[in-house]
Amino acid sequence: MTAVGIDAVEIWTGNLELDLPGTFAPQKGEDPEKYTKGLGLYASSFPDSYEDIVTMGANAAHRLMERKGLETDDIGRIDVATESAFDNSKPVSTYVAGCLEQVFEGDFHHANKGERKFACIAGTQSLDDACNWIRAGRNRGRAALVIATDTALYARGDAGEATQGAGAVAMLIDEDPDLVELSTEQGYGSADETDFLKPNQQFPSVDGKRSVQVYLARMREALEDYESVAGDVHVDDVAYAPFHTPFPGMVRKAALLAYRHIVRDTTIEDELADEIGRQPRPEAFDDDEAYRDALREYMDELKETDRYQEWYAETIDPTLTVSRNVGNWYTGSVHVARVSALKHALDEGRDMTGETMLIGSYGSGAQAEIHAETVCDGWEEEIEALNVDAQIEERYDLEWEDYEEIHDAHNHDVDSDVEELTTPEGEFVFDGWGRMGERK
Ligand code: CAA
Repeated sequence: MTAVGIDAVEIWTGNLELDLPGTFAPQKGEDPEKYTKGLGLYASSFPDSYEDIVTMGANAAHRLMERKGLETDDIGRIDVATESAFDNSKPVSTYVAGCLEQVFEGDFHHANKGERKFACIAGTQSLDDACNWIRAGRNRGRAALVIATDTALYARGDAGEATQGAGAVAMLIDEDPDLVELSTEQGYGSADETDFLKPNQQFPSVDGKRSVQVYLARMREALEDYESVAGDVHVDDVAYAPFHTPFPGMVRKAALLAYRHIVRDTTIEDELADEIGRQPRPEAFDDDEAYRDALREYMDELKETDRYQEWYAETIDPTLTVSRNVGNWYTGSVHVARVSALKHALDEGRDMTGETMLIGSYGSGAQAEIHAETVCDGWEEEIEALNVDAQIEERYDLEWEDYEEIHDAHNHDVDSDVEELTTPEGEFVFDGWGRMGERK
């Protein structure tokens, strides 16, 4: 079967930055370490008044098409994944296509366009759909454009406010990809949950603590389902495991769960149990609470073992570098984690060709997906071409008063005419309804 996967990727961050320890923590009267150590976040990307999901998505896609030398005729499908959509009828991909048609010759009349919604997992679902479209031979030699774009903003005072973010990831999906090939096996964990909702409102209603538990429960199910189709995962076979990252502290919890799952019933678990002096499966307990307490104690001790900490430092921590400085990008978040891991490999001079990554995607509401990817031999050139670090560095650092004003401006319920804080440079801008995506 022909290899299908991600040929190229581009990232576009919101142009503003909210410093969490320096600006946010003092206003909230919180210890800065709650954010840096507890949640694992240093800054959030924030959209300027002229930025939204369309402009960020179109800017990422424009960079991608320009860099790869593509024309409109090379793209047969445009899917946008978002949970920040403002139009219940016209998909965001039509707005993005309209922007791109201002710059590239021709148009996208031949392209199938859509919008995917299932909270943060929709980016991965769009990726799966695009791969399946190519595998089914329906692409007529064309590639697919998948764009994950969100303004992940919470009401002021909501616990989630510290985890905000804004940005887009554009991915080119094609045969014989340069970056990663996707496996055809996926594992799912899915249930009807109401921990995170946006019923016709800009800012979500969220039960944050519960959402963490739902994430972990669905991820455990997805791992089990994945192994039932792909066979047991071996810890040494996974170079990196990028997970959906609403904040790095969440991934700390998910990684421990995944590790415990992967090493269960292996000699590694016996060795860890010896090191800890406690069995992970306390069969002797017959009531649930005692079992849960014993398991929790085992997990607490497991995360302190050298073996686990080394695995975390090598396999998980490198996936979090970008996220620590940009916050949650909802649908784009797991795709940022993949880029972060490969950037780390490039910086370390590690040869990733042929290596496996285990991707853990998640969306509230709720669904998790696990799939594997194999890194392709053009990965270095693709990652070298990114300018993520420069984009992060060049963001405008928000004062608290500016933040409040611009936060209001992004709430569609509030009338606001706030001045832009940065000057757009060769990028699409939101210029009022009906004048979407003009390029300045
Ligand atoms: N120094 C070091 N650590 C500190 C600290 C300090 N001074 N103060 C607190 N901490 C630690 C806490 O111990 C805690 O760590 P653990 O979870 O490991 O115990 C961590 O910092 C966070 O502290 P709190 O739990 O007190 O934080 P909070 O209640 O204010 O907010 C949250 C946490 C509920 C997750 C909130 O960020 C939230 O609502 N986020 C939005 C929802 C979310 O992201 N959920 C994730 C799963 S759902 C999903 O993934 C979909 C999606 O994208 C939204």
